[in-house]
Amino acid sequence: MAIYAIWNNKGGVGKSYLTFQIASEYARTHPAQNILVVDLCPPGRM
Ligand SMILES: Nc1ncnc2c1ncn2[C@@H]1O[C@H](COP(=O)(O)OP(=O)(O)O)[C@@H](O)[C@H]1O
Ligand SMILES: [Mg+2]
Repeated sequence: MAIYAIWNNKGGVGKSYLTFQIASEYARTHPAQNILVVDLCPPGRM
């Protein structure tokens, strides 16, 4: 099981965008696995 964490204090720097791209590519290359994405940013916007 692979776990990736994207962190930066500043907002609007691309954390959610990068997370989406990494999760999408991981899902594409590991079609048999389930992918869970959790946004721990206080506003929680993806
Ligand atoms: N590499 C990039 N190229 C172009 N636009 C980007 C890139 N990374 C982020 N953005 C845009 O910048 C804005 C903020 O990105 P977001 O991922 O929501 O930031 P964060 O989650 O760090 O607050 C969004 O509108 C997103 O589409
Ligand atoms: Mg975000």
